[in-house]
Amino acid sequence: MEQITDCLCRYKNYNFGIGLTTPEHIDSLQSFEIRDSDVLLVTYPKSGTIWTQQIIISICESAGGLHEYPNNLEQMPWLEYTEGRGDYALRPSPRLFSSHLTPALLPPGLKAKKAKIIYVTRNPKDNIVSYFHFSGNSGDLETPKSFEDFFEQYVTGNVGASSWFDHIRDWHSKRDQYNILFLSYEDMILDLKEAVTKICHFLGKNLSDAAVEQVVEKSTFKTMKKDVKANYEFLPEEKVKKDFMRKGKIGDWKNTLTEAQSQRVDQLLHETLGEMSLKFIWE
Ligand code: A3P
Repeated sequence: MEQITDCLCRYKNYNFGIGLTTPEHIDSLQSFEIRDSDVLLVTYPKSGTIWTQQIIISICESAGGLHEYPNNLEQMPWLEYTEGRGDYALRPSPRLFSSHLTPALLPPGLKAKKAKIIYVTRNPKDNIVSYFHFSGNSGDLETPKSFEDFFEQYVTGNVGASSWFDHIRDWHSKRDQYNILFLSYEDMILDLKEAVTKICHFLGKNLSDAAVEQVVEKSTFKTMKKDVKANYEFLPEEKVKKDFMRKGKIGDWKNTLTEAQSQRVDQLLHETLGEMSLKFIWE
């Protein structure tokens, strides 16, 4: 692994936080055995990962048959990190995992198309702002000197998980190789029940309307913020100093990005994803 900043190192074209994983572990994912019943949530950081974890876990709990773990992190751990990691080969099915990785770094067994992947995107302007605040609060990431500095690092892909633009392009262009459901943070904000229903269908879980409503209630920003299994306040303070759950809104970028920065993102979107006809919701 090549160290590229005080907090980041690079391996196989991807930026990891220092100390969170090892090259051996990332290599070992190439032979990690995927089960047909596995469910993997994939996101670029700050796109609604812990929110979608809560939805998936609540749906699976409601459907029954899920092994209990103390919190959502342990119920749905990151495939790529080594810290606090158990032997996932010994976990009872169904196994739920999370990841920020790109397709090439994940277990090839996912291409058998039986295991399910849920990929959540967020519009890049809100994503930058959320990532900026999180970087200031996370013990694993460098505290940005200013928003301008962070913006520059983000648009050049010099942050953890590398470039947002590459992540989105990579996953969308390889979608046919996987059994994958694409969702957006904004769709979830605008109609949470609809998003929960889509996830239920994709996971093959037939919940009653009342059970779906219950999942929605457990996954609202307000409820999750108080839910000690879901709000990530169980992480030690040296990991995350303040709320993981900050604002939970669409359009906060308008309070932070300058007109020039906003246009630069538009331009990059056009250059890197222009031909993919992806639509983003900005407010
Ligand atoms: P903000 O920083 O804009 O508030 P991730 O889990 O990928 O790190 O994403 C974190 C973002 O998701 C944060 O965005 C957080 O507030 C938001 N979030 C978490 N739970 C949410 C919920 N139930 N509803 C809406 N947004 C949520």
